[in-house]
Amino acid sequence: MCSSCPSIPSPNDAERLSAFEQRLMNAFNDGALMLMTSVGHRTGLFDTMAGMGPATSEEIAQRANLSERYVREWLGAMVCARVVDHDGNGGTYVLPDAHAARLTRSADANMAVVAQFFSVLGSVEDDVVACFHKGGGVPYDRFGRFHEVMAEESGQTVLPALEGIILPLVPGLVERLDTGISVLDLGCGRGRAMLQLAEAFPNSSFHGMDLSDDAIGWARAQADRRGLGNVTFMAQDLSDFDTAAPAGRYDLVTTFDAVHDQAKPARMLKGIRRALAEGGAYIAQDIKGSSRHDRNLDTPLAPFFYTISCMHCMTVSLAQGGDGLGAMWGRELAEQMFREAGFSRVEVHELEHDIQNYYYVCRP
Ligand SMILES: C[S@@+](CC[C@H](N)C(=O)[O-])C[C@H]1O[C@@H](n2cnc3c(N)ncnc32)[C@H](O)[C@@H]1O
Repeated sequence: MCSSCPSIPSPNDAERLSAFEQRLMNAFNDGALMLMTSVGHRTGLFDTMAGMGPATSEEIAQRANLSERYVREWLGAMVCARVVDHDGNGGTYVLPDAHAARLTRSADANMAVVAQFFSVLGSVEDDVVACFHKGGGVPYDRFGRFHEVMAEESGQTVLPALEGIILPLVPGLVERLDTGISVLDLGCGRGRAMLQLAEAFPNSSFHGMDLSDDAIGWARAQADRRGLGNVTFMAQDLSDFDTAAPAGRYDLVTTFDAVHDQAKPARMLKGIRRALAEGGAYIAQDIKGSSRHDRNLDTPLAPFFYTISCMHCMTVSLAQGGDGLGAMWGRELAEQMFREAGFSRVEVHELEHDIQNYYYVCRP
């Protein structure tokens, strides 16, 4: 038999093959469940069901103001995936409280928000496949809902922990914010972190910068709506921030999940160092993992983040002619880059509320 012909599996291989087939079958179901979970979130079906108790598909559809035929098919997926309980005789459906606690907008951690990334990424699959052949990247404007979903996600990992857990990583920082300091958030997206802090600390001034005109427009509209005079937002490409950064201007600089998808992350980091005032600090939240594939085998969500990276973070950077660092750039490389940017003291924190990120505190 030639070396490239498939061989008959040995008994050990046969066992491995069958286990792998089973794993793929489970993945088909779980992948499908993510799409239906995203739909359940966007249509408000989980929120509707959480408030209802046992109800028929007609009652659920009517309450949610949706088409019953679609709701019934969605319920089929949810029942067979054991997310929703079904009484076959009575024809009623119920979302158990324990599941509602992770799938609804009133939950403290709504995991359905994250499920939306699968459809956001799936929408650019043709573009990414083309990049596998010809190189280059997929630009931000191809990802219709990215900034909306991202803001919803960081609204859960960053916002509730900001004043109570993240800022206290720098001793005395909350007191300084009370007195009045200047803060800059880079790659701020829709700017929700700065908006929240501007409300909480009226004596301090807050600034957000991001490449996206749309996201900055959203942030500005919110600032106006809330009547906040101590926060500004600017659409800016940070690729030349090493030279563009105003020297010694800010007492605190933050990046939330916003180093690795920059076009020129090393230049942005050098700019952050330059922009920091005497005694200032830089807090960076970024994806938890190692820079090496083999060290990420037991990293929770590693396949998920390599996927997000390939389908979004890496490709948007490459589309800008950037470095394509990728979401899984990892702690080893992150610490090295912070040092090379001029930060001699780098602390790495793992916070209980957020298993998917490291929180780096960097000082000159
Ligand atoms: C993963 S998002 C994080 C957004 C926000 N910090 C949050 O947590 O919701 C990364 C952000 O980096 C921004 N970004 C990417 N490349 C950039 C560049 N060259 N200059 C400025 N911002 C950039 C994107 O527009 C995006 O909003």
